[in-house]
Amino acid sequence: MPETIDICPTSDLPPGAMRTVEWEDVEIMVVNCNGELLAVEDRCSHDDGPLAEGEIDGAACTVECPRHGALFDLRTGKPQTLPAYVPIETFPVLIEDDVIKLEVD
Ligand code: FES
Repeated sequence: MPETIDICPTSDLPPGAMRTVEWEDVEIMVVNCNGELLAVEDRCSHDDGPLAEGEIDGAACTVECPRHGALFDLRTGKPQTLPAYVPIETFPVLIEDDVIKLEVD
C-alpha cells in the first residue's frame, strides 16, 4: 500500500527549484523542471553519488552526477550516459490542495 508524504506548498518549488526530502533512510530529490514536478532517488546507481549536488538541466529534465558525470533522465530515472547503466528509482508526484506530495512504498 503506497504511502503519501507532504513535501511543501507548490509556491515553494517554482520552476528551476529543487529540494530534498528523506523518507525511511531514502534521500529523494524533488525538482520542478519547467513546471513539471519530478522526484527521483538522490543517489547515483553507479557509486552512490549525491545527485542533488549535481547540475540540473531544466530544459532537458536531466541531472548530472557530480561524482563521475553520469547523466540521468529525471522523468524515467534512466541513465543516458556511462558510467551508470542501472536506472535510479522514480517517485510519483501529486498535488493536492496546493501541496506537493510524493507517493512512496
Ligand atoms: S557515482 Fe555517479 S557517476 Fe559515479
